[in-house]
Amino acid sequence: MSFKKVYFGTNLKMYKGVADTVSYLKELEQLTSDIDRNCAELFVIPSYTALSEAVCSVSQAQILLGAQNMCWEEQGQFTGEISPLMLRELGLSIVELGHSERRHIFGESNEMINRKVCTALKNGFKTLLCIGETGEDKQYGISDEVLRIQLKTGFYGVSDKMYGQIMVAYEPVWAIGADGKPASAEYAKEKHAVIRKTLCEIFGDNGYAIPLLYGGSVNPSNADNLILQPDIDGLFVGRSAWNAADFNSLIRSAIDKVLLLR
Ligand code: 13P
Repeated sequence: MSFKKVYFGTNLKMYKGVADTVSYLKELEQLTSDIDRNCAELFVIPSYTALSEAVCSVSQAQILLGAQNMCWEEQGQFTGEISPLMLRELGLSIVELGHSERRHIFGESNEMINRKVCTALKNGFKTLLCIGETGEDKQYGISDEVLRIQLKTGFYGVSDKMYGQIMVAYEPVWAIGADGKPASAEYAKEKHAVIRKTLCEIFGDNGYAIPLLYGGSVNPSNADNLILQPDIDGLFVGRSAWNAADFNSLIRSAIDKVLLLR
């Protein structure tokens, strides 16, 4: 039986400045140096101001680096925005798009996110599309519909040949952050199955190869169970990853559980 490759990423949101980001990355790189990157892919998504120093401080063969957002245009009259060309110039690998906080605090629509996805792919980035239903959607019983709309509009016009550049993070809005309640492994498994099916409608059988990560209050007590679920290929972690030693422990424990299944 082959080892299921697993993915562990963290979004540093608006917490760490340049110095904190660099020391965090160096510590994480050192602590995880013996983990076989063919078995586990690690990535960190710092704040914009730390990106330039971040790419100089770690090897992306060990820890891939990404941006938390990006403009859908390459240049123009877009005050305050960051162009894909600028992110490419820095040497970043990943662009995260459609995070719940972008959608719900900054009003990003599915249509805007789709334009960003197309631009990120065109510029050669690994594109991490984040999707997730709100607590209200869940209450109305329309979670699956919302996820399918986010995927179908998010990837509208994307060629099925691009699947190798795509990752998806399922982060139920009600599960994210200090006030969030983590999804049960059973619930996450159900939603990941819906997402996988939709990805296969969009990308054909290539949809099976797209890494699908769960995020939203992942912590040391639920990570192992989540990673063992059939359509969960990785974990996208916030608070529980922002201390390098804690993230290293969470990653190792999860990998051990997956290895036991071999
Ligand atoms: P928490 O793990 O802190 O809930 O954050 C998850 C998240 O938003 C990752 O992008």
